[in-house]
Amino acid sequence: MLRGPWAGLCVLLACASTPPATEIPPPAPVATSAPAGDEAAAPRPSARRAPQGPPPPVFPANEASVRPGVNDAYRKGPVDRFVARFEGPDREVAAHKSDILAFLDLRPKMVVADVGAGTGLYTFDLAEAVGPDGRVYAVDVTPSFLDHLRTQKAQRDASNVTVVAADPKDAHLPEASVDLALLCDVYHHLEYPRTYLASVYWALRPGGTLVIVDFRRDPKTSPEWVLSHVRAGQDDVRAEVESVGFLYVGEGPPLSQNYVMAFRKPTGESAASH
Ligand SMILES: C[S@@+](CC[C@H](N)C(=O)[O-])C[C@H]1O[C@@H](n2cnc3c(N)ncnc32)[C@H](O)[C@@H]1O
Repeated sequence: MLRGPWAGLCVLLACASTPPATEIPPPAPVATSAPAGDEAAAPRPSARRAPQGPPPPVFPANEASVRPGVNDAYRKGPVDRFVARFEGPDREVAAHKSDILAFLDLRPKMVVADVGAGTGLYTFDLAEAVGPDGRVYAVDVTPSFLDHLRTQKAQRDASNVTVVAADPKDAHLPEASVDLALLCDVYHHLEYPRTYLASVYWALRPGGTLVIVDFRRDPKTSPEWVLSHVRAGQDDVRAEVESVGFLYVGEGPPLSQNYVMAFRKPTGESAASH
C-alpha cells in the first residue's frame, strides 16, 4: 500500500498479477482510418470495447510532430555522457528518486513500463521492486540507450527486464499487459504525444496507472532553457493526457522543478457495480 502523504492514491495504484511476458509481439497497427476531425476516435481493431471493458483510446488522426528532431541530440556522442547527465545528483528526478519510487507503490509481480527509460535511471530500481515474478519493460527510441540498457540488464542479471525498441508513435507494448507506466522526464520528448499516449493506454490493463514526471513550465518564473526546451506546461499536459481517455488521479510528491501527475485507465465498470 502507498505510504506517507499520498496514501489516498493507493487504491488507484492497485495492481493485477499479470503473467510476465518474455517476448514482445509485433506491433499492432496504429490508427486504421482517418475520420474527419482531429480528435475522431480510431481504435485499433483489437482494442474495440468489450461489453464491460474500458473505452478504447482516442487516437488522434494524423497528429503532426509537435517537436521535430527533439531527440536528435541523443544520437550524438557517447552514451557515457548521457549516463553522467541523467544519473547525476544535480538532476532533481535523480536526487528525489526514492520519493518518486515510493509514490509508485511498487509491489512484487507488478508489470511496469519505464517508458523513455534512457540510461536506466529508474529501470533497475523498478525491476528490484517488482521482483523475479514481475516484469519491467524498458522502452526507448534511442538506439545507443537501448544497447546500454541491454548491457546493463546482462551485467546486473536482471532477467525480469525486457528492453523494448519503440518508435515515436508507438511504445510497442503488449495489449492490456501493464499495471503501471512511468514517463519520467519524457513527455516533453514525445514528438506525437497523443498518438503515443494512446499506445500506452492500449498497453495498460483496465484500471492501470500512468505517472508523468516532467518539468514545470511557467512563462513568468521558469528559466529560459525550460521555456525553450519544454513545450507545454502542466495544465496543457493534463488536458492532452485526458483527451486520450485517461482519468486524472492526482499529484505525487511535491518537487521544486518537476511535477508528478498520476492518471488511470478506466476500468469500464460502472460505479454501481463496485
Ligand atoms: C530526458 S531523457 C529521460 C530518461 C529517463 N526517463 C530518465 O529520467 O533518466 C528522455 C528519454 O525519452 C526517450 N524518448 C523520446 N521519445 C520517446 C518515445 N516516443 N518512446 C520512448 N522513448 C522516447 C529518449 O530517447 C530519452 O531516453
